[in-house]
Amino acid sequence: MNTHKIRSFIRRQGRITPGQQGAIERLWPKYGLEYNNKVINYSEIFDRKAPLIVEIGFGNGDSLAKMAANQSENNYLGIEVHKPGIGHLLLQLEQLEINNVRIFNHDAVEILEHNIADNSLIGIHLFFPDPWPKKRHHKRRIVQSNFIDLITRKLQPGGYFHAATDWHDYAEHILKVLQKHPALINQSSDGMYCERPDYRPVTKFERRGLALGHGVWDLLFKKTG
Ligand SMILES: C[S@@+](CC[C@H](N)C(=O)[O-])C[C@H]1O[C@@H](n2cnc3c(N)ncnc32)[C@H](O)[C@@H]1O
Repeated sequence: MNTHKIRSFIRRQGRITPGQQGAIERLWPKYGLEYNNKVINYSEIFDRKAPLIVEIGFGNGDSLAKMAANQSENNYLGIEVHKPGIGHLLLQLEQLEINNVRIFNHDAVEILEHNIADNSLIGIHLFFPDPWPKKRHHKRRIVQSNFIDLITRKLQPGGYFHAATDWHDYAEHILKVLQKHPALINQSSDGMYCERPDYRPVTKFERRGLALGHGVWDLLFKKTG
């Protein structure tokens, strides 16, 4: 049997600034979580009970920090494999004195599979996932039907999945996979895409896409309750 796992990312750590490295050393014990085989107890890691939203691939974390500051009634779990982005987010959490965010530095698929209880999330965000534009790389795109099965299992009844992309053919693919899932209902009035909701800040990759003349497509689906 071929057990080789196709991942949605390639681990290239890139340059990390001394500020980001220092933030990781100083702040990881406060905000960081380690991947293991145990389902996490949310009240324990956040020191309070509150609705939990997971952001997959938060990049440099600018939009995650903003959302966590603006919606302080929620808890946020950010998952990212790129270390400099983790350092960047940690610096913002410290500066803005944000306490409702925790971070994993690991593959989001494995975190969802092993650390997140079923039916436990009010929301899952996937903003500007790597587009893998070449046809032969499409298999690396994180949104596939087994990924959508996984995220749907993790949502509470009534919970939502929100994705956004600036690649039209990826938007069409995501829409198709979401529409096929029997437990998900499109929140768009015309059964296609949504306007960017107020709670979602413009992200770094989105700004880059807009500068290149790309469009933006938001997709918002709810799990039947
Ligand atoms: C194109 S960037 C978008 C970053 C950010 N959301 C934004 O809009 O600026 C996609 C990010 O997803 C991360 N990523 C890709 N696959 C991932 C996975 N399986 N688990 C965690 N992070 C992942 C990458 O490291 C990258 O930072």
